[in-house]
Amino acid sequence: MSSPAIAILGTGAYAPAKVLTNAELAQRVDTSDEWIFTRTGIRERRIAAAHETTSEMAAAAARTALADAGVSADEIDLIIVATATPDMLMPATACLVQSKIGATTRSACFDLNAACSGFIYALDTAWAMLGSGRYRHALVIGAEKFSGIVDWQDRSTCVLFGDGAGAVVLGPARGTARLLGARLYAEGGNTDLLCVRPGAKPVIEMKGREVFKVAVREMEDAVRDILEQHHLSAHQIACVIPHQANRRIIEAIAQYLELPLDRFFVNLERYGNTSAASIPLALDEARRAGRIRAGDTTLLVAFGAGLTYGAALVRW
Ligand code: UT7
Repeated sequence: MSSPAIAILGTGAYAPAKVLTNAELAQRVDTSDEWIFTRTGIRERRIAAAHETTSEMAAAAARTALADAGVSADEIDLIIVATATPDMLMPATACLVQSKIGATTRSACFDLNAACSGFIYALDTAWAMLGSGRYRHALVIGAEKFSGIVDWQDRSTCVLFGDGAGAVVLGPARGTARLLGARLYAEGGNTDLLCVRPGAKPVIEMKGREVFKVAVREMEDAVRDILEQHHLSAHQIACVIPHQANRRIIEAIAQYLELPLDRFFVNLERYGNTSAASIPLALDEARRAGRIRAGDTTLLVAFGAGLTYGAALVRW
């Protein structure tokens, strides 16, 4: 029996209202709007208030995605939250989301940590579970509160990250829209390039320049593999939704694919790097901005601590 076709039925996102600009950061650490913008493309990021926990942001994004999909919470039988910043070490953030959105206790709930690649990892995992025929509708969420694990004295990292959440509802394809493919990878030899060690106040440690180089190579590998596997040329991709870490990394991928930058959806100027939330947040904005139309093929591509990386192809 062949697997049922699975599609993204709806998307949603949530970003905290509080904006932290580069100019405000420059009052705290030795940096400037000019340095941050030229090196990263970031102008501002959102910072969650105390009540805006990862699960709260995830639940808000999930509700919007459910409304967009026309699927009710009690039809969801699988919730995966991709996050490196769960509310608690246990229980899983997905359990908190289940309760907050009023989903049935017959839904399987777990968190998945593949850092900034987490959403693509969660998407592929949920797709496989739905493809088995044993689950019908899934919420796949990327949600992060990185403001809680940033060292606000470290100018080399604190300027990069922000908070937010994005979600998609997966379910049986209704028309020709469907998930076409996904590939996941990890280079576990590079764990020390980007990590958060346990401690009294765990914070992000990163070798930025090295991460930059490996990220470009890995994302190039991932897009080459997935396009070859699906016999697609880059020019057949209507919109690329890359992990929003650094505009220069995105420009390098655009050059590699020989695609104009306007084929990429970029919103990091306003959000910075929201880790596992970055792709679903960008995906939702791209759809609402009319950048994704019925029949389009979209390429998602990410890298993150691990170093994990991966890509997915989505037909709308
Ligand atoms: O989701 C994965 C997350 N990680 C990433 O995406 C990281 C990828 N890497 C990057 O995005 C870039 O490497 C950074 C934006 C982190 C850094 O840019 P860079 O062009 O690689 O700069 P660099 O680390 O080589 O630093 C250049 C200079 C250094 O000064 P010296 O040694 O040349 O005197 C830094 O101390 O810039 C200095 N610097 C800063 N100056 C002003 C580092 N951070 C700052 C800052 N403001 N915020």
